[in-house]
Amino acid sequence: MKKFIVILFTLSLVACQQNSGPQHAVATAHPIATQAGIEILNQGGNAFDAAVAVSATLAVVEPYSSGMGGGGFWLLHRVVDNKTTMIDGREVAPNAASRDMYLDENGDVIPKLSIDGALSAGIPGQPAALIHINQRYGTLSLRKVLAPAIKAANEGFPVTEHYRRMAKFRLEALRASPDAAKIFLQNNEVPEIGYLIKQPDLAETLQKMTRQGANGFYKGDLAWALVEGVREAGGIWNITDLQRYRVVEREPLVGQFGEYKVTSVPPSSSGGVAIMAMLNMLEQHKWSSLNEVDQKHLLVEVMRRAYRDRAVYLGDTDYVRVPLDKLTSKEYAKELGNDIKLNSATASASLPGLDDQPKGNHTTHFSILDKQGNRVAATLSINYPFGSCFVPPGTGILLNDEMDDFSSKPGEPNAYGLVGAEANAIAPGKRMLSSMSPTFVESNDRLAILGTPGGSRIITMVLHSILGVTQGDSAKDIVAAPRFHHQYLPDEIQHESDAFSGSEIDNLTARGHTLRELNGGYGNMQVVIVDKADNEVSAASDPRGEGEAIVQ
Ligand code: DON
Repeated sequence: MKKFIVILFTLSLVACQQNSGPQHAVATAHPIATQAGIEILNQGGNAFDAAVAVSATLAVVEPYSSGMGGGGFWLLHRVVDNKTTMIDGREVAPNAASRDMYLDENGDVIPKLSIDGALSAGIPGQPAALIHINQRYGTLSLRKVLAPAIKAANEGFPVTEHYRRMAKFRLEALRASPDAAKIFLQNNEVPEIGYLIKQPDLAETLQKMTRQGANGFYKGDLAWALVEGVREAGGIWNITDLQRYRVVEREPLVGQFGEYKVTSVPPSSSGGVAIMAMLNMLEQHKWSSLNEVDQKHLLVEVMRRAYRDRAVYLGDTDYVRVPLDKLTSKEYAKELGNDIKLNSATASASLPGLDDQPKGNHTTHFSILDKQGNRVAATLSINYPFGSCFVPPGTGILLNDEMDDFSSKPGEPNAYGLVGAEANAIAPGKRMLSSMSPTFVESNDRLAILGTPGGSRIITMVLHSILGVTQGDSAKDIVAAPRFHHQYLPDEIQHESDAFSGSEIDNLTARGHTLRELNGGYGNMQVVIVDKADNEVSAASDPRGEGEAIVQ
């Protein structure tokens, strides 16, 4: 019986279709959001319309992952003019934020202040980003593309096992906000499986946006309600923070790995820079020609070095100078990877110069391809499960706790164990450094649209998946592949149980690596692949999550 269930489940996660004309594909972390994307594509919308519909629907049905009170990065490719761009809808620090705002009088980080409640919330970027995408890239009206989200908010979605886990993890923080408790709990307790989460206030807010666009969120009644709610709960937002929020379009980072062109996101994400640096170092050390255990060792060594650079150099490029060209160049990779030894691990402590963390089932990623070939890879977040757990009264907007992605204090690990320095210090209006890495991978033979949540481990999951694409792996195999991760500090390889064989563990230990097996899997990868030779489109949603991929 169990096997039967597993087979059924797997079928629903993986979609693949042989060409009988152009196809479109949507892979997201929630079946209701995938359906929303397909519905919009079937109404004649393009990938960008579908992306707005999916983002807004995920904001409703995955409230622990992303939302209108959060932000994200949307990587778009438009066929008609061959334009590839990144929509940076990352949250920004409020104007009254200051460098040491989460430190006590002794200069120590005050636990939870940047994670729970109104003070942990950055100014949301997702509403502005969705309006921007709709206006600049969409073809359908906002009313049409927001309709599935509004319907889901009004009619409700059923609580799943995963929802219960997330709500249990954040129960105390959710109880501390009366509106959050009313919406996301059942009589102040973790809701039962199947209980319907209805969000009439959020539906009303989305309606307001269909009538007034971004002003419906950033100006007027709703904006005032957000600011007043935040301030009454101890936060520091001002109305001008909302009025001044701006989406930024940025040029994506592009690198070459063998015959594959890799397109990913620039700061305020650290993902693209780290991915390019790791691919360059792998190429330098001829990764593809190595045996399996040497490949794994080399992967760990390039991860270690890229994460050390992340900690030192990366932050919001509107505020700090980041040597992007240098960090992503082949020459620099030679320097950075120069001291990698194939037979022994480099101790992170010896490089010039971080615990169990959440598993990557909050924050969300989706991948979309339309029949014209337009594509979107987007990773969206409110950071921790259920973000700050704070809903300003009457708004239905669950606020993020993205302020924790800043470095509260140099060298002090954040919720994901990441350390940072000056480049990622808190400043008014500044974007906090992210790891979210929506990515395109393309050669003459294949195209992949991919990404995942997972905090600091996002970047290495995306790296594993890029390598899977280059090795011809199927979408299904890529999302299911076992994962391992190194982030410089703590100096250990964090891995899923099936990432290494017993002999590989012995072998890597003998080279000086410390390995730590994680409890269960992590990540929620969503992949769409086009195999160009036979024009076959396939898509898959990570079996670790509850998502769905559809090709039509
Ligand atoms: O932007 C970032 O890097 C984080 N706020 C992402 C958080 C995340 O992926 C949580 N999932 N485990």
